[in-house]
Amino acid sequence: MIQINVPPLKKLGILLSGRGSNFEAIADSIKAGRLQAEIAIVISNRADAPGLESARRRGLKAQLIPSKGRVREEHDAEVSAALRQAQVDLVCLAGYMRLLSPEFVRAFPDQIVNIHPSLLPAFPGMDAQKQALDYGAKITGCTVHFVDEHLDHGPIILQKTVPVLEGDDVHTLSARILEQEHSAYSEAIALILSGDLEVVDRRVLRKRGRSEGRSSEAKSSEAKSSEARSSEARSSEER
Ligand code: GRF
Repeated sequence: MIQINVPPLKKLGILLSGRGSNFEAIADSIKAGRLQAEIAIVISNRADAPGLESARRRGLKAQLIPSKGRVREEHDAEVSAALRQAQVDLVCLAGYMRLLSPEFVRAFPDQIVNIHPSLLPAFPGMDAQKQALDYGAKITGCTVHFVDEHLDHGPIILQKTVPVLEGDDVHTLSARILEQEHSAYSEAIALILSGDLEVVDRRVLRKRGRSEGRSSEAKSSEAKSSEARSSEARSSEER
């Protein structure tokens, strides 16, 4: 009998507060086989988040953990416990309109990612698309990044650019950025789950690319030293 060992799918935990289109794009990528993962839990801090209802309709575990009027650390501890119980490997913020406590960030080191609708470090915080328009930027876009203790600040995994057109208003620009967000998020998650990324200082690098780079450098230096050895051998023979 042939035994095939299929590695278990990595589990995602999604945190959202609203529409949930990024969550839906991730769920669609999984369904279409573009992303090898499973959504173990969707958590919303708001009862009226359409994303929560969408998760239920898709038959996913969807949990409301209301945040209104609660001490941040207490709320975060509850969210953290739910994510742990669902055994998530990666926490994806998808329009989660709440600052995370340092304790929460430390509980999931390099395991929390966020998507932001600008090319960070430009235009962090709220209304990033409006900020880009008001500033007169010609190019903006979206950023998927690891989450650290500062707002919209952690190491950048992937960015996609979007031109700002002369006739743009916040709605048209946001819609074109959102389209890019929807592919960027799944691509970034796939990269992380591939295990091929490493964070060196602030830079998110491909391990394979680096080792290939190293080995070709190593190869060329090996070639040089073997050439040097044989020319030394030749000259000693001549002597
Ligand atoms: C997106 O623009 C995302 O970049 C930002 O919040 C918005 C959430 O949209 N963090 P949705 O709820 O995923 O549709």
